Amino acid sequence: MKKNLFDLTGKVALVTGAGGLLGPKHSEALIEYGAKVIVTDWHEDRAIAKAQSLNETYGEGSAYPLHMNVTDKSSIDKVIDIIYNEFGLRVDILINNAAKDPKVKKGEGNLKPDSRFEGMTMDYWNEGIDAALNGTFLVTQAVTNKMLEYGTEGVVLNISSDLGVIAPDQRLYRKEGVPEDEQNVKPITYSAAKWAIIGMTKYLGVYFAKKNIRVNALSPTGVYNNHPEDFVKKLSNIIPMGRMADINEYKGAIVFLCSDASSYMTGENVVIDDGCVLDAKGSDNEGIRIGDGVFIGRNTILNCKNGDIFLGNNVNISSNCMIFSASEVHIGNDYLMAAYSYLVGGTHHADDPTIPVLHQKRSSRGIRLESGGWLGAHVTVFDGVHIGKNAVIGAGSVVHRNIPDYAIAAGNPVTIVNKRKGEKNS
Ligand SMILES: NC(=O)c1ccc[n+]([C@@H]2O[C@H](COP(=O)([O-])OP(=O)(O)OC[C@H]3O[C@@H](n4cnc5c(N)ncnc54)[C@H](O)[C@@H]3O)[C@@H](O)[C@H]2O)c1
Repeated sequence: MKKNLFDLTGKVALVTGAGGLLGPKHSEALIEYGAKVIVTDWHEDRAIAKAQSLNETYGEGSAYPLHMNVTDKSSIDKVIDIIYNEFGLRVDILINNAAKDPKVKKGEGNLKPDSRFEGMTMDYWNEGIDAALNGTFLVTQAVTNKMLEYGTEGVVLNISSDLGVIAPDQRLYRKEGVPEDEQNVKPITYSAAKWAIIGMTKYLGVYFAKKNIRVNALSPTGVYNNHPEDFVKKLSNIIPMGRMADINEYKGAIVFLCSDASSYMTGENVVIDDGCVLDAKGSDNEGIRIGDGVFIGRNTILNCKNGDIFLGNNVNISSNCMIFSASEVHIGNDYLMAAYSYLVGGTHHADDPTIPVLHQKRSSRGIRLESGGWLGAHVTVFDGVHIGKNAVIGAGSVVHRNIPDYAIAAGNPVTIVNKRKGEKNS
């Protein structure tokens, strides 16, 4: 019989902060693949309500609610004692999900000006990082000690955030007509805790590598939860898929990371946000326009300062490319750009040897890549270059001059080595 790599039958999972928005969804995913879930939250009523609803849907005994404050060691020890000694179960999967996550909501919301860095109090700071950072430490320590004691295999999954990988774009939280020092911001505590969780994940992944305990992180991006319309619009604009995540869209990743399907994976952070940074810098900049069906690979940076970056329909940009624009970078339709390509839309002047280059004039003529072309991996294209339609540039080339339509060019400095047959047909 074919083994189901995602099967969680007989496994017991402990989910923290499971009385909120996503915790019940993580629980659902695990139960659907056969696990039983201990649903914990410091709001006991929420844990009970969520477990009840899970039992109604999936059958009695699918979920057990327990009160647990992840920042209180005695509360954690009590839960561990109940699971191991009263229930006679043991924990195979731990999801560290609890966090203080100040959110934009319709009406007031719980993002407040006191979340601003300038006046943040020590109490706010401590409270902000407590559940995510200290809670992840305490619960992981308690659970992995039990796994080691019983010699059982285990999985720890830490829920970080896209804001554990990139900085929050505070423009998302701005309100028109509100003075600067009263604007709401996503607090530094959230970033600090979420970045730290990824560090802990990497540390523990290696620490337990030979002990059959895998530790990974999942970093979701914003989940739609009836947010105010203007916020949804602003956030959707900077997400390549053009929308926030649906609440069910992390379930697949949860099952993958908690099951044998990811058995050779530890210390990793799975980012579900496409991982690219779009940064339209500057006060007078309205740049970066992206056409339909554009694919932008992970860790790509599109950075725009006083210029425009335009990507036509069906452009495919592989991972780790960087596109910088000081005037215009125009990439036509159906363009294929391999990994690590670099488009430098701007240049420094070095005319005066007595002045540091950094302090001399900058200028930019822009870059234009016409439709249908292909840049191989590690291609660098300099400012002012025009690459004609359907041209192919070999891997590692440095393109300092214009390339005509249908040309095949390669090298550093680039030379035209051939012409594509398509030219005859065109
Ligand atoms: N919702 C999103 O868009 C989103 C995006 C990225 C990451 N995340 C992360 O996913 C996780 C879940 O997010 P959510 O939207 O469900 O948050 P949520 O605020 O709805 O739920 C968090 C839960 O944690 C509980 N909690 C807080 N402090 C606790 C403590 N000390 N002990 C025990 N429980 C405690 C709360 O009672 C709440 O039920 C969080 O770690 C969050 O940072 C969420």
